[in-house]
Order: sequence, then structure tokens, then C-alpha cells
Amino acid sequence: MNILILGSGGREHALAWAVKQSPKCDRLIVAPGNAGIALLAECADIDILDGAAVVTFCEENTVDFVIVGPEAPLAAGVADAARAAGLLTFGPSAAAAQLEASKTFTKEVCDACGAPTADWARFTDEAAALAYIRVTGAPVVVKADGLAAGKGVVVAMTLAEAEAAVSDMLGGSLGSAGASVVIEEFMEGEEASFFVLSDGQDVLAVGTAQDHKRVGDGDTGPNTGGMGAYSPAPVLTDAIATQALDLIVRPTVTEMARRGTPFQGVLYAGLMIRDGQARLVEYNVRFGDPEAQVLMMRLGAQALDLMLACAEGRLAEAGVTWADDHALTVVMAARGYPGAYAKGSVIGGLDDLPEDSRHMVFHAGTALKDGQVIATGGRVLAITARGASLAEAQAEAYAMVGRIDWPDGFCRRDIGWRAL
Ligand code: AMP
Ligand code: GLY
Repeated sequence: MNILILGSGGREHALAWAVKQSPKCDRLIVAPGNAGIALLAECADIDILDGAAVVTFCEENTVDFVIVGPEAPLAAGVADAARAAGLLTFGPSAAAAQLEASKTFTKEVCDACGAPTADWARFTDEAAALAYIRVTGAPVVVKADGLAAGKGVVVAMTLAEAEAAVSDMLGGSLGSAGASVVIEEFMEGEEASFFVLSDGQDVLAVGTAQDHKRVGDGDTGPNTGGMGAYSPAPVLTDAIATQALDLIVRPTVTEMARRGTPFQGVLYAGLMIRDGQARLVEYNVRFGDPEAQVLMMRLGAQALDLMLACAEGRLAEAGVTWADDHALTVVMAARGYPGAYAKGSVIGGLDDLPEDSRHMVFHAGTALKDGQVIATGGRVLAITARGASLAEAQAEAYAMVGRIDWPDGFCRRDIGWRAL
């Protein structure tokens, strides 16, 4: 079959890498793609936020299956447009993507289905919000309701920080995304990510992972999109996974169907785990980046079968074949990230690295220029390895990092530390 993947990051490179291994995949196109993706798929220059443009491209290229990588096209209704045109599509409708696009929406769904999460209140009025946090006190969490590219959450350890966050967001610092704010109880515990496919009715867990959001070793410095990840996450034990499915994910999927907006795609549940109990921190409606890199490394070709079963409403009969393995990915970013960074520096050493079912360099922000790979983004590469143990995966990944010649790049040196 002919398959189109939408997106251009490390996540989409990992999805393409896994899909390409399946004998079912004839032609693979990624839009817009990047320099790494171009080595294994065709790249097409389409506006992936434009549903009509995506549909036209699919019709002209006899695409049989569309996989939507990032949240922006989902929130923009690209999966709706594709399905309305009769295309088999992996990814939720715009209505169901509200589970990521609106914090208030998710909280209301949790309340409606009894899913455990932090206590919350929503405000559009600054004075009312400030009065509320003066009662709750700190620590407290202030969130912009809408999509804010990772900048919409302030975990305030002091009242002053919380007040500043409320005033900034309601004052318009994040534009319309911050026109209303959700103020949440601060939850303590260890965070882990749980990935569950849903075809609208049935669910299937496809893996666990732990991300490293801070830029510096030892979880210090500002937040980023994710500086590394590993899978499985030992803190998310089988017992907690079962509980999270039964108390959080399945009730959410049932509630979404009851509302007439069934969720089809991958539900990425961010969980806070404490004393053997999981509570929901947030939902994303797509695979994580860089979590997809470790999940795809472990799933391999079966990823395509699973996404197809999801899109065709056959999850009840699908299953995952798990190997007793571990994967770990180290993100290399441009010096300065997540602040200002330069673009265009040359990355060497990539050609000599192993690329097989246990080693892969996924590209996130690269382009080819005069035959050389150059950095074009903040997060640039995700160096990924699989091993019999997490320690082995870590050692393999950092051995690859050591062979990359990129003086303008940096990475964390401690990915995996919580589990090791
Ligand atoms: P979110 O975008 O909602 O996932 O929030 C980003 C990060 O903020 C999460 O990964 C957590 O580390 C932290 N966070 C969000 N909500 C809470 C909460 N209620 N209590 C503690 N930490 C939180
Ligand atoms: N790595 C976090 C995310 O994809 O949202």
C-alpha cells in the first residue's frame, strides 16, 4: 500500500522507519520530511495544515493510508478532511483532538468519567484567578487553556510565580491560547508516559516511556520539548498500567464516544505516579517526540499493523508482540536551545554510524545542503539504540553520540538516570 506520513520531526522519521520495514508498505511519502527521512522515503512539500491540499495530494498519488504525526494538523481538522474524502487515516478528529488542544476540555472529560486527575478551576478573569491562588497557595500549577508549544504550563513553587503566570497569560503573552487559564493542584510523584491506541471503542496499550524535559543534566535548567527518552518506564509497572487503562484511558474513550466524538488514534497519557496510584497530568493526541523514537525502535514493523487495525476499527482483535528489550534515545540539540540558537552548522560523522534494528539516528531538524547535513532546528538528532537491558541501550546510544562530529551541538549525558 501507499502510505503518507504528515510531519517533519524525529517522531515522523521514527514512524517512517518502522512503517518502511513492513512488507505491506509499497510507496512511502513523508510531508514535508527532513534530510534523514529523505534517505528512506519520498519527501513531499505540502501544507500539512491544509486538509484540502492533503486530500488532493492523496488522490493524485493514490495514497491508501494517511498517518498524522503532530498535533497541529489534527487540531486543524486534517484527519477529518482525509476521512471525509474516504481515506483510511490514523489520527483523531479535530473534536477529539480537543483532548490535547484544550486543558479545560480534558478536565471536563475527566470529571465526567471519574478519571483521577489534579483538582482544577478555570478562569478568564485575572482578579478572580488571583483571588483563587491566594486561597490555594503555592505550589500550584497555572496552565494556558490552548496549544502553546510547550510554553503554556507554569509549575509555580511560590505564590509570586503563580501570580506572575496568571497575569502574563491572561494579559495576552500567549495570545488566544492563554485567553483562559486552568489552575491546578500541584501533584507530587514520578511522571511517566503511557501510549494507548484507541479505535473509538477498544483500546490497546503500545508502550510506556519516560521523557527528560529539562535541558540540563540532573533535570536542571529550562523546559524543552524533550532531551531524551527510554522505554519501557519501570515506574509504570503492569499493575499501574492496568489501573491507568481501567480508571483513566478506557473511561475517557467511552466518554468521548458517548459525546459523539469518538477518539481514534494514539492517546498519550502523561501520568503522575505516587504510592502505586496514577493520576492524569495531561493527554496528547499523538505520539511523543522523542518518545516515538524509542517506541518505534521496539515495535518495528508491527507498528504499521497496529495503526492500520486502529484506523480500521479492528483493535479488539489486535495485539502487540513484545520483546524483552529496552530502547533509549539521546537528543542532540543546537547550542543555545531552548533559547536562541544558530542554524546551518554542519554535522559530520553520520555516514559511519550503524543503522540497523538496534541502532538508528533519527533526524528532527536537518536539511541537506551541498551534500552535507546541516542543522535547521533546535532539537536536531535523536540518537537511538536498543539493548537487552537499559544500561546496554544507554551505552550503545552514547557510543554513537561520541562518533558524531558536531561542535555546535550538545546533549544531556544522563538520559535514563532515573531507571538506572
Ligand atoms: P502538561 O503540558 O500539562 O503536561 O504540563 C507540562 C509539565 O508540567 C508536566 O509534564 C509536569 O511535569 C508538569 N505539571 C503539569 N501539571 C502538573 C500538576 N498538576 N502537578 C505537578 N506537575 C504538573
Ligand atoms: N516529549 C513530549 C511530547 O512529545 O509532548
